Amino acid sequence: MITVTKDKIFSLTNRFFSYVFRVSPEGILEHLHYGGPLKTPHNVAVHHMRTQRETASNFQGSQYFNLSDTPQEFPCFGTSDYRFPALHGRNSDGNTVFSLHYKSHKIVKDKPRLKKLPTARGGDSETLVITLEDPRHKLTVMLSYTVYRDYGVLVRSAKFKNKGDQEIQLQHAFSSALDLPANEYDVLHLHGTWAREFNEERISLPKGRFVIDSSRGTSSAAHNPFIALLQKGTTEEFGRVYATSLIYSGNFALSVEKGEFEDVRILAGINPFNFHWRLKPGKTFCTPEALHVYADNGLRSMSHIWHDFVRDKISPTRFRHVPRSTYLNTWEAAYFDIDEDKVLDLAGKAKEIGVEMLVLDDGWFEGRQDDTSSLGDWTADKARFPSGIPALASKVKAKGLKFGIWFEPEMVNPRSALFEKHPDWVLHVPGRKSSLGRNQLTLDLSRPEVTDYLYEQIDAILCCGNIDYVKWDMNRHMTEVGSAGLPKNRQREVSHRYILGLYGLLKKLTEKYPDIVFENCASGGNRFDLGMLSYMPQGWISDMCDPVGRMDIINGASYLYPLDTMAAYIGPSPNHQNGRISSIQTRFLAGMFCAARGVSLSEAEIDAHRDEIMERMALAKSTNVDMVGGRFDRLVKNNNEVCWQYTSRDGGRVYLVYFHILAAPNLPFRRAHLTGLDPDAVYVLQEDNTRYQGDALMHNGMPMPYVATGQVKDDMRYMSKGDFSSYLFIFNKEK
Ligand code: DGJ
Repeated sequence: MITVTKDKIFSLTNRFFSYVFRVSPEGILEHLHYGGPLKTPHNVAVHHMRTQRETASNFQGSQYFNLSDTPQEFPCFGTSDYRFPALHGRNSDGNTVFSLHYKSHKIVKDKPRLKKLPTARGGDSETLVITLEDPRHKLTVMLSYTVYRDYGVLVRSAKFKNKGDQEIQLQHAFSSALDLPANEYDVLHLHGTWAREFNEERISLPKGRFVIDSSRGTSSAAHNPFIALLQKGTTEEFGRVYATSLIYSGNFALSVEKGEFEDVRILAGINPFNFHWRLKPGKTFCTPEALHVYADNGLRSMSHIWHDFVRDKISPTRFRHVPRSTYLNTWEAAYFDIDEDKVLDLAGKAKEIGVEMLVLDDGWFEGRQDDTSSLGDWTADKARFPSGIPALASKVKAKGLKFGIWFEPEMVNPRSALFEKHPDWVLHVPGRKSSLGRNQLTLDLSRPEVTDYLYEQIDAILCCGNIDYVKWDMNRHMTEVGSAGLPKNRQREVSHRYILGLYGLLKKLTEKYPDIVFENCASGGNRFDLGMLSYMPQGWISDMCDPVGRMDIINGASYLYPLDTMAAYIGPSPNHQNGRISSIQTRFLAGMFCAARGVSLSEAEIDAHRDEIMERMALAKSTNVDMVGGRFDRLVKNNNEVCWQYTSRDGGRVYLVYFHILAAPNLPFRRAHLTGLDPDAVYVLQEDNTRYQGDALMHNGMPMPYVATGQVKDDMRYMSKGDFSSYLFIFNKEK
């Protein structure tokens, strides 16, 4: 996998890609190739060009070498490269000029883990660690590159160490830089807001710098930490793709710069805006891990690479390929109008319709009757939950259900006992009124006493042993980011220290309770990222439960995240977010391929559609095993249609859902071309036992049901007239 020649050409190669760079004659790390695997990677060095450019400043006196057109592994500013640098800051002379030179390297078999940050797991991998040094300021940067035998993901990070005797201030401390050759590219990213997360935008990469980032304290729904550079014309099945993400949940930046000579630089890491880290002599600073994927067969192959990797190397191992329970969540069933009796009634309903778990959402703790109070006081409300949570959980379990509970640990309402006692435990700055979001303030998780308090409060509930699931919510962005626990000159470290505190808390809790399924939520998908998914096997990707909204969100999220990480439920109709009326069938099918499926409906709505819901929950239960570890494919996505395929891990079952959004007369006959099937096998359609050959389903395609507006021939497969229709095919592979 990793080879090094004696003239210091480094190659990381597996069956997915080769990544090649060298120590240039000038002593810097010069990037040579990232793309399809090369049989003799070291030969690419001869392709490199050097020229005397007009107006260029030549690097430290060399005639044909300026850094502006040199692809580099970890660029700095101030020595002839004018592009956005991976390292920038204030050095011990007070200026901002750094210059990093190769010092040494080593190859390790065990992938190193980062202190305080979640990391991708190793195993059948090799890691190359290169040490660069700025000789004047005695700053070393250790670049780490991990390549796996069986995954198309390259993992990178950087570790800075101040070996000098004076402070260095880091401002750009990116995790990785990737310089790609001049070409015409599109850039694809996922943007959004509350209840409209994961919208895809694809634009032609302009000259200049295109950045997605966050300064909200969370990775946020505004831009998910994912970016892909696509060869022009790339489709689901064709084209070279370079995609990048981060194992980080805070202020990140992914920047793509098309420079003067049209080469492209991708930087991935902590957002340099509003970041500043004081690196004292002897101290180190670790960046989060950046992940790079190269795929040469379009977006579908890119997603398969991500999905396999996230499942196998990032999500908690304990839940890998473990089926998730169907559930009834109290939120859209009752909102804050919840008490012990209602929970038990809903548990009865849950049992009746065949779901396996009851989840008690917001509203159970002391004084919490609406969203204006009580966050921070994590004991059960005595009036509405007189038995307390452990006893209530036992009663629910006595009905043969599992029990789950909601927390929003990182927050506090000014109207709470916690805030009264510790007003300085919130993020705030002196002399300014704090801005509220959903009537709440953010606790200062950079302070150990705060994370200790939260651990004790949550532990006190979980230790009863009756809790199977925790929904970990977080419902506002940060403002007035300042900490009473840090000196003035470290206030710009608070956002990152908050994330380190959060990770520490999550690690402690998930290690103590390895069997509890933690579900990540931040008003839906406001912090759905690989950092949070390192601790929690699944996430609530959006509060949008209308099926038309939800299918767009799932489609977008599926570029990077496997559906094993997603939860979805049948919500009310008319939908509470957009008022749309839709069938139980379409509401269910929009989330059919998510690992965790359920309902959040009032007793009245359950009663009104009891049989239909029971049928869907029975299907969910019987397919729970298939919905983890399988393969997801986006077959069709246009303004009016979506078609997805899901193939079980053993290949034995193939599911196809087709959605037709707005009805129209006289429509074309549509086909979906299935993918990844065994061409020689026969697939039997469950509904009528028709036998289809694998090659025919892939190459000739499967006719989609027709949205009929006229007369329909009896044996023609059609969907109900009207808007928002959907259809599910289930094929069983003949043995
Ligand atoms: C926001 C979440 O996304 C919802 O599902 C629900 O848990 C509410 N918070 C509760 O306040």
